[in-house]
Amino acid sequence: MEQRRPLIAGNWKMYKTPEEAAETAQQLVERVTGVTDVDIMIAPTCAALAPVFKVIKNSPVALGAQNLFWENEGAYTGEISAPMLKSVGCEYGIIGHSERRQYFGETDETVNKKIQAAIQVGLKPVFCVGETEKERESEQTFSVLDKQVTKGLVSLVSEQLDMLIIAYEPVWAIGTGKTATDAQAQEVHQFIRSLVEKNFGNALSDSIRILYGGSVKPDNIAGLMSMPDIDGALVGGASLNAESFSQIVKFKN
Ligand code: 13P
Repeated sequence: MEQRRPLIAGNWKMYKTPEEAAETAQQLVERVTGVTDVDIMIAPTCAALAPVFKVIKNSPVALGAQNLFWENEGAYTGEISAPMLKSVGCEYGIIGHSERRQYFGETDETVNKKIQAAIQVGLKPVFCVGETEKERESEQTFSVLDKQVTKGLVSLVSEQLDMLIIAYEPVWAIGTGKTATDAQAQEVHQFIRSLVEKNFGNALSDSIRILYGGSVKPDNIAGLMSMPDIDGALVGGASLNAESFSQIVKFKN
């Protein structure tokens, strides 16, 4: 089986001014120069994309957006399109984060349109899925994920999905300090991979990277990464500090 290259991604959410973001990016670059065995991405607020790109452009750190709209241009006040994100240096786009689903009305249908828009311009989608605490407690985790993954990828075919990344972020673990255990996360990642296999075949299910997100920290990353179906992490709080994020990036050391 092909070795999947780990991806450690930082979602900076609505934190840091452009100046602060560029400064943290610079501190990160200094700490990860020479890292060659892990893909690294940071997703600052869109106001900070261009200044952060200036700092990271010749480094191992890639740029990601936290959201995008599915049309390329038009009268859509306040939105930003996939081609615009590409043009300021983005390589990745986070799509369907639970905070967007919860506060900004994103649905499986809009997530699907956004994934298609990203793929069309060669922006790697980081497609987020995950169950709430209530859904887990009522044993709906697998059915919720089945619906999110299936509907989020509807009308896409495996040939289009080689740049897709899935991020499993249990909502109850985000910003709570309550990480899923290694075994809990592995169980769900294995399930997501089996869904990808069922819908798109085993070439894609073998190669697709599935990240875990939810209170990832320097002291729990190694355990998570030792699980066979966990291929990286989407980090919130601990990615805001260059030192802690670089420790997560260097989880093998
Ligand atoms: P925390 O790492 O702060 O729990 O956030 C996870 C997350 O939402 C990343 O997208």
